[in-house]
Parts: sequence; structure tokens; C-alpha cells
Amino acid sequence: YREQIPIDKGLDNSLSLMMEGYRYISNRREKFGRDIFETRLLGGQKAICIAGKDAAEVFYDEEKFIRQGAAPKRVRQTIFGEKAIQTMDGASHEHRKAVFMSLMSRESLEEVVHITRDEYDQFISRWEGMDRVVLFEESKELLTRVACRWAGVPLQEEEVKIRTNQLAALFDSAAAVGPRHWRGRQARNSSESWIKGMIEQIRAGNMETQEGTALHELAWYRDSNGKLLNSQVTAVEVINILRPIVAIAVYIAFCALAIHDFPEQAGKLTSKDDSYDEMFVQEVRRYYPFFPFAAARVKKDFLWKGHDFKKGNLVLLDIYGTNHHRDIWERPWEFNPKRFADRKDDPFDFIPQGGGDYHKGHRCPGEWLTIEVMKVSVDTFVRKMYYDMPKQDLNYSMMRMPSLPKSRVILTNIKRKL
Ligand code: HEM
Repeated sequence: YREQIPIDKGLDNSLSLMMEGYRYISNRREKFGRDIFETRLLGGQKAICIAGKDAAEVFYDEEKFIRQGAAPKRVRQTIFGEKAIQTMDGASHEHRKAVFMSLMSRESLEEVVHITRDEYDQFISRWEGMDRVVLFEESKELLTRVACRWAGVPLQEEEVKIRTNQLAALFDSAAAVGPRHWRGRQARNSSESWIKGMIEQIRAGNMETQEGTALHELAWYRDSNGKLLNSQVTAVEVINILRPIVAIAVYIAFCALAIHDFPEQAGKLTSKDDSYDEMFVQEVRRYYPFFPFAAARVKKDFLWKGHDFKKGNLVLLDIYGTNHHRDIWERPWEFNPKRFADRKDDPFDFIPQGGGDYHKGHRCPGEWLTIEVMKVSVDTFVRKMYYDMPKQDLNYSMMRMPSLPKSRVILTNIKRKL
């Protein structure tokens, strides 16, 4: 059978997308009573929006979708970079993805946990001497240090602030307009030339790197034709490791917010047993908005749920909406870490960092690292330090991408727990 899917009328609904943000797709799905509809976005292009577990399953079928030509220019010029893995398909994508996945071994993840603990330890000493700590700002710097140490990228003390701001501007600017967007483009240029210079030094034999680190493995990665990537694209991929580690600051801010807003659930964190910690951070990743949707293009014509998907169609998978979908989650608008107690892992129903297969598809290779860093953060907040949260505006916007508590989470009276 074939049927007409609902259409969100208008020549270009980009303004509604900007005004409704994370809820744009969910709002239309509710209005139409369907998990699929058509709209026009990003300069009037036709786009099909889909949500739910079945939608994620079809979206991550590499026979049906490709990424080439899916990411808009403003995204490639800020958060992704040109010729990044996010825009690749098929065998060449899989080949390059293997390097990213090789960086996520158990030992490597233990290393990132160790480094993150060490940085928190030093930051607590610094915070003890401060009247007021803006957690989001401090976390970005902490994570820049973590990212560079873990990836093997040398970072001079004098450049910590500037690199922090550059890496943060990359993920803060993709959906922004005006100065916030332009800061992102500038940051893209400066951070690429920083790492590009390093890659050239490494290849010229003027700089040592440690085997197993992201910098080393990407500098010497050869594609399926046996060729090194050019230094520009190599820099793009090194930044594809550094930038998202710094972006975990968004989740750290939301972890602190959840501890504050849901004292009953957070209360269970104080026990010595840390099995609840993982459930708590999983619920933070489900509940709060971060990535709104993923984009791909139809590879070849196919019929799905009565709708003709035509080669070249742009399709958006509602990530935020799928993480709040009623068919998947009981009382999706409740913050309830216990829902993760007896959940069976499914690659398509819990997708804050994408779905499907890590190696073959585009699912985030940094998902385990993100969970580990969040667990260290929660452990630090509840077991390693005392703090107060003075009156402040903790509301987070559903329009701003990425969303953040307005105050950026202010902490006072920080003292180490001994
Ligand atoms: C891809 C989210 C952290 C590296 C993705 C995707 C999402 C995502 C939604 C795209 C999935 C798709 O296109 O279908 C997040 C969030 C993070 C995070 C919310 C929290 C801060 C990280 C970390 C790293 C990382 C820590 C690396 C250390 C990447 C890379 C890709 C990716 C390289 C592209 C993968 C591909 O195209 O095959 N991430 N991510 N991310 N992420 Fe993450």
C-alpha cells in the first residue's frame, strides 16, 4: 500500500524549527498523530522527519541511507569539518571508523577515567579557593585538559584558555546565527591550523607521539588505498576526538542540574555501591536535550510504512523525540534512572548518541567514553566534594542548541570531602 504522509505546509519552515528547537519534530508528530511527516527546511529543501524505534532501524540501514550531501554547509563549517567521517559512506567510512573504534579499548577507557579523576582532583583544590564556580565553564576547561592528555596532543599552560574556547565554539555554533555562528567558523580555522601544523611536524619527524593515542593513530592512519590522509583532513579527525570530549561539559552541567532538581533520585547516589551511577547518567542522556536529530539521504528508492522514499530525499531522525517516545518509555517526561535497571540493550531504542552498529554505521564512537566521564563527574559531585547551589536561573531552553541551564550552573562553598 501507499499513502500520503502529513505535510507541514510552508515553503521553508526553518523559522519554526528555530522557534521550537528540540520540539519541532515532536510537536508536528503530535499534531499529525504520526511518526512520519514531510516538511521543508534548510533553504526550502524537502525533508522527511521520522521518529521511534522502527524509524531508527530503517535510518541506520546502510543499504537505504547515505551521509554524503546530508550535512548542511553551516554544520560542515563548524562542528564537523569538511571531509569528516560524518559525511562518508560504505567501505571507506568503515575503514576510517575502525581507527576511531580502536581508540576505545577497555585500557583506553580506563586511561580516560584515570585522567578525568586526576583533573577533578586538581580542580577541586582550585575551586576551594574560589567564591563562585561556573560549572559549565570550568568543565569545558577540565575536559580540554582531559581530551588533550588522552589524545596525546601537547597543550601548553598558556594556551589552555584559547584552545578551550575554540573547541567549545565548534559545538556551540552549528545551529546558531550571527556572532555565535561566526565564532564557530573562526574556531574551525584556528583549531584546524593548530592541529594541521602538528601533523606536519609529526610526519617530518620533528615531533614524537605515543602509539595508541588518537594523535598518533590518526597521523599514521592509511586509507584502504594505503595512503595517508592529507594533513587538513587528519586535523579534522583529531578535532573530531577533542571537540566532542569538551562537549561532555553540556552533560556535566545537566548531571549537576539533575542532582539538584531530583533530590530523591540523586539521594540513591550517595551509597557506597556505584551500580546506580550508570543508571543515573543514562537517564541524564535520555532525559535532557542535546543532539536534536541526525540527517541522511536516501541511497536508492524504497517503500517504508506506505511512503515512497526517493533517492536523494533528505531524512531527519528525531533523536530527542525517540528518547521520549511513548512506545519505548513509560512516563517519558519523568526523570527516573531506575528505568534502566532491567533494560535489555537495543541498538535502536535509546539513541542520544545515534543508533545501530558502531563499526558499520555512524553511531557515536565516543559513547562509552562519554558515559565513563559522566560517571566520574557524578561520583565527584556526590562523593568527593561539598558544594552549595545558590539561587540562580537553572532553566534550560528548548530553542538553544545545544541547550544549557541559563546560569551555566553556579556552585559556591566548595570543599573537598575527605
Ligand atoms: C557521531 C552524539 C561524544 C565522536 C555522533 C552522533 C551523535 C553523537 C548524535 C551522530 C550519529 C549519527 O550520525 O547517526 C554525541 C554526544 C556526545 C558525544 C551527545 C556527548 C558529548 C563524543 C565523543 C567522541 C565522539 C566523546 C570522541 C571521543 C564522534 C564521532 C562521530 C560521532 C567521530 C562520527 C561517527 C561516524 O560518522 O561514523 N555523536 N557524541 N562523540 N561522535 Fe559523538
